[in-house]
Formats: sequence, structure tokens, C-alpha cells
Amino acid sequence: MSPIFSADTPQRFPDNFVFGGATAAYQVEGACQTHGKGKVAWDDYLAQQGRFSPEPACDFYNRYDSDLELCERFGMNGIRVSIAWSRIFPNGGVGEPNPEGIAFYHNLFASCRARGVEPYVTLHHFDSPAALYANGDFLNRDTIDAFEAYARFCFDEYPEVTRWFTFNEIAAATLNRYVEGTWPQGKKGCLHECLQAQHNMMLAHARAVLAYKQGGYPGTIGVIHALEYKYPYDPACPGDVQAAKNDDVLQNRLLLDATFRGDYAPDTLQIIDHLCQASNGSVEFLDDDLSIMRRAAQLNDCLGINYYQSRFLKAFDGETDLHHNGTGDKGTGRWRVAGVGERAVRPGVPTTDWDWIIYPKGLFDLMMDISLCYPNYKQLFITENGMGRKDQLVDGTVDDSERIAYVEDHLRWILKAIECGVDVGGYFMWSLQDQFSWTNGYNKRYGFFYVDFETQQRTPKASAYWFKRVAQTKRL
Ligand code: NOJ
Repeated sequence: MSPIFSADTPQRFPDNFVFGGATAAYQVEGACQTHGKGKVAWDDYLAQQGRFSPEPACDFYNRYDSDLELCERFGMNGIRVSIAWSRIFPNGGVGEPNPEGIAFYHNLFASCRARGVEPYVTLHHFDSPAALYANGDFLNRDTIDAFEAYARFCFDEYPEVTRWFTFNEIAAATLNRYVEGTWPQGKKGCLHECLQAQHNMMLAHARAVLAYKQGGYPGTIGVIHALEYKYPYDPACPGDVQAAKNDDVLQNRLLLDATFRGDYAPDTLQIIDHLCQASNGSVEFLDDDLSIMRRAAQLNDCLGINYYQSRFLKAFDGETDLHHNGTGDKGTGRWRVAGVGERAVRPGVPTTDWDWIIYPKGLFDLMMDISLCYPNYKQLFITENGMGRKDQLVDGTVDDSERIAYVEDHLRWILKAIECGVDVGGYFMWSLQDQFSWTNGYNKRYGFFYVDFETQQRTPKASAYWFKRVAQTKRL
């Protein structure tokens, strides 16, 4: 154990701490066209690619109750789920609601309640309805109106939900789609569209928060960001220090400032400008946008952090290359902009089977930073953290001791942050059961429960038994 953990570091999580697993509608439900569900852009994209199918995923649409029974049996008191917008509004995300889609989520939430597992519900987890997508999705301001209407509908329809998140990972949703070219429709290098979509989604978030608060609903609302701590590769090199700062502004500050200040700092605007020049475009903020965002910024009840890894950054003075072949997975291979910095792998830092850097302390540094820079943050949840592996079922068991070590190390740093005064409400491992990965399909497994995708049988991995003890005793 690192010496930073003193004998005073609490060994026990607070009594009301939430321990759970995370899911996302499209990655677990299957039933993509069942009971009137409308299409999402991923349906056609995955069909064209022919690499893997979103059907039946892990058949959560039919097996949610037995999966929740597993949650209960394994000591979990929370679950992250998302609502598929196109199940509720199949006609392009607007218009007549679909009674069968609505009923599905009532049943799901009732099952959560019956099992004593609190649902933490995200309204948008990468699955905009196809018609909205085709019309520009969040680049088109009509989608902001549609999202607000959909959010209001859900707040009214589901009083049994008291824990809401608006969006999951705005940064990933936009970068993979407009810059990395790895998600539908596979666009590359359009940094200005990526940044415009980020701004518009943050505005949509703000409008949903205001609607929630004006409606006087008795619950909490927040947004979930994918955050990484940014370290200079060589702390003694000023270029590397600046590169780390730039990457921090781009991935973290931009969205955190929009969330908690309703504004963008001058250095953020400078980088936005620089990137827009690189991709020959611009980002437009309307006059009202920032006043709406500023009002909402004081009203967030919580922030969800999806934390998997941190980054080491080096100065980059080479040529801008917006079409570099990134996979979204590797530590380094991705687009570069002159003067902004590039990612580097520091020798000796362990990585996962997919080359994601394992650096639990980065989560602590992030939480400390957020609590200091945004004193209005109220409460943090670790809404995702976990390890993608090529798990093997051998003689009826899965030995994923590496995953146990990964989760344990992150939980230890969460305890340290709590000791330092950060309010952390809960931890959701990604993922509850094995699901498909947006770019890697079914061979990248994250779950507590191994899923045989042929038979849909669930087998608890070693990590599930370990987590059960932690969740029940609230101790590591
Ligand atoms: C973040 C996303 O929210 C989730 O959908 C994804 O599968 C995991 N990270 C793992 O990459």
C-alpha cells in the first residue's frame, strides 16, 4: 500500500454510500425494434459494418428482473441504467409517446424498488433517435428543444425515479463521432463540429436542469463527464507542462466550466479558437446560451465522473494532423494539433488489455481538483470505473483478480478523497454484466457477471464475490 494512506485514512465508506454496477440501454437491452422502439443511428451503422450486432446484447429487456436479483444477492444498493429515448418517442424522438416503451421502464424501476436497488437514470447514453441524428443531432438546435421535451416527459412520467443524469460522456459522444471517425457516421477531423455539439449538449443539459428545478421534483439531477487527469510527461519540461494544461482544458475544464460556471474561461476560448482554425470552422454561442447555462450551473445536485485512466502529455510542435488513425482506445494514436500537445505512454505505467493506462491516483487528483475549483459541486458519484478484459470462463469460474486489484486501488483513493473532505456519494463499476463495447463488440468484457452470449447465462466472476463483501461491510 502506498505510504500516502495513513493509519487515519478511513477504512470504511459512509453508511449511505452506494455500491453498484453500471449499464446503458443500447449496450444491454437488445430488443432494438421490439414493442414499437424507434431506430437509432447505431442500428444501421452496425448493420453496415457487419462486425457485431446489438441484438440481443445481454437481453436485459427480458432479463432485467433476474439481473436485479443478482444485484440484490451481491449486496448492491444501486444500479445505473439509461432510458432509450427512441423507446419513449419512436418517431424521431418527438411526437406521440409509445405506451409499451413507457411501461418497460415502469417495470424496470419497480423491479429495482422491489430489490432495494436504487436506479440512477441517465436520459441520453449515446443513443439519439435516428431521425434527429440524420438532421444533425445536437448540431441542430431543434434537438435541444426535443431533448428538453423528452426530459420533462420523463420527469413527469417516472416519479419513482429520484436520481437523474442528463447526458453520459458528452466528450466521447462528440469526439468519436466528429473527430476520431470511430462512431456513426464516421466523420474525421471536424473539431469545430465536435465543439459546437459539446456546447449545444451542455445547453440542453442546462435547460433540463432548469426544467427539473422549476418543476419542483423531489430528487437530484446532474451530468456525467468522462474525465482524465492530465500529467506532463516530464514535469520539468515547460512544453510538456503546457501540453498537459491544454489537454486538461480540452477534455476537463471546458465541460466542467460549462457545468459549474455556465461559462468558458479565457484559456478555453483560446484553445477553442485554435482548434476551430485547424479545422476551418467556428463555434457559435447565442446570447442567451450563457445566461441559461449560468443559472443552471448553480443548481446541479451532483456530478457523475466516469474515470478509467489518466494521460501523460508531451509538447507537440509537428504538423497538425486531424485525420490520424485513432482507435479511441490506444494511449497515443489520435489526431494532433500543432502547439496543443500529444499523448505519450510513460514506461512502467501498467495498462489494460486494451492499452488503457492504469493510474488510480489520477481519480484522487481529479476529485480534489474539482472540489477545489468548483466549490458549488455538492456531490460526486463515480458513475463508471472498470477494466476491459478478455475474461475466460474456466470450469465454471472467471478469475479476474486483476480487475479486483484495479477496483480496490480506485476505491482506496476514493476513501482518501473522502478523508480530505470530498463528498462522494457512490461508486458504480462499469459494468454490471458483460455487454458489448461500442467499438470492440463482445470480446471486451467489463462485467461483474460473465455473460455467455449464446445462452445468456450469467456467471458471477471472482470480482462479484469480492465486491459483495465490500458492499455489505462498506470496507475494503
Ligand atoms: C464509457 C461509456 O459510458 C460506456 O458506454 C462504455 O462502454 C465504457 N466507457 C467503456 O468504454
